[in-house]
Amino acid sequence: MKSLDDIQEVAVLGAGTMGHGIAQVAAQAGCNTVLYDISDVIVETGRAAIAAMLDKGVQKGKVSEEQRETTLARITTSTMLQDAVRDADAVIEAAPEKLDLKREIFSDILEVVSNDCILATNTSSLSISAIAECLPEPDRHRFVGLHFFNPPPLMKLLEIVRGDLTSDVCVEACRALGERLGKDPIVVRDAPGFASSRLGIVLGLEAIRMVQEDVASVADIDKAMELGYRHPMGPLKLTDLVGLDVRLAIAEYLAQELDDTRFEPPQLLCDMVAQGKLGKKTGSGFYDW
Ligand code: CAA
Repeated sequence: MKSLDDIQEVAVLGAGTMGHGIAQVAAQAGCNTVLYDISDVIVETGRAAIAAMLDKGVQKGKVSEEQRETTLARITTSTMLQDAVRDADAVIEAAPEKLDLKREIFSDILEVVSNDCILATNTSSLSISAIAECLPEPDRHRFVGLHFFNPPPLMKLLEIVRGDLTSDVCVEACRALGERLGKDPIVVRDAPGFASSRLGIVLGLEAIRMVQEDVASVADIDKAMELGYRHPMGPLKLTDLVGLDVRLAIAEYLAQELDDTRFEPPQLLCDMVAQGKLGKKTGSGFYDW
């Protein structure tokens, strides 16, 4: 398994909301980073979003012009999956939350990644051990959950999720990598929803049920948590930021895995996703963006 100093080359698979943010974090920490997705349009959109985030960081005085340039220079893009991971010391997959898709990706890269490359998934809720079933048993020792938070460049938490066969060496290498990326890691067992999504989703779903029941306006429900509980962002605005489709997928998965009505998605959430109102990324959700 790679030691901290060995991790120089990172491949991020998926250039969407989380993937491009993770690529930025890795490049900002000095890693040569390949950002992969299935089309040029998607990878270039991801790259443009990184540039915009860095620009905002420069405006706010948090990122220097030089850091902006070196970060962008360390990121290359690719639409060829096996090429993207060939030199990687760590692969971080950030594809949509579909078990079969994630398994397919890891199966496809196994024949080309180096033997000691860390294999990580950024899933928000899917079982790490279930994803790892696509790999031969020895490779499951180096398979791990690395769960980042949105927006990755600003959020300090990194949830390291150990599957049934994840080795201690792998967990410690990830802890060291996380700290190098400027994160504050926690280590969690592979239980449905881990430590973060299981709690976060309950609040989000309940807020949506309150909108359904006309308890208060969207803005006032958010204000209740922002001013009353000092949350940086209310649960409905946060649902817009994360993506209504992402939250729906997590809710459905947890309702099934935990067999618990608390996680059953409210009708309003299902309806909004069906209408394509996915939140910030589509310009419309509980708010207009
Ligand atoms: N680059 C660098 N730094 C930046 C920056 C940028 N582009 N933009 C902002 N910052 C810095 C600011 O300078 C500021 O720093 P200080 O605290 O040192 O002053 C800090 O980041 C906060 O920035 P702002 O004040 O401009 O912005 P904000 O107060 O509106 O905060 C936010 C933005 C950090 C996103 C905040 O609203 C927040 O924490 N929201 C909640 C986010 C959250 O809960 N995310 C988790 C979602 S769940 C998830 O992701 C898991 C999943 O699996 C679905």
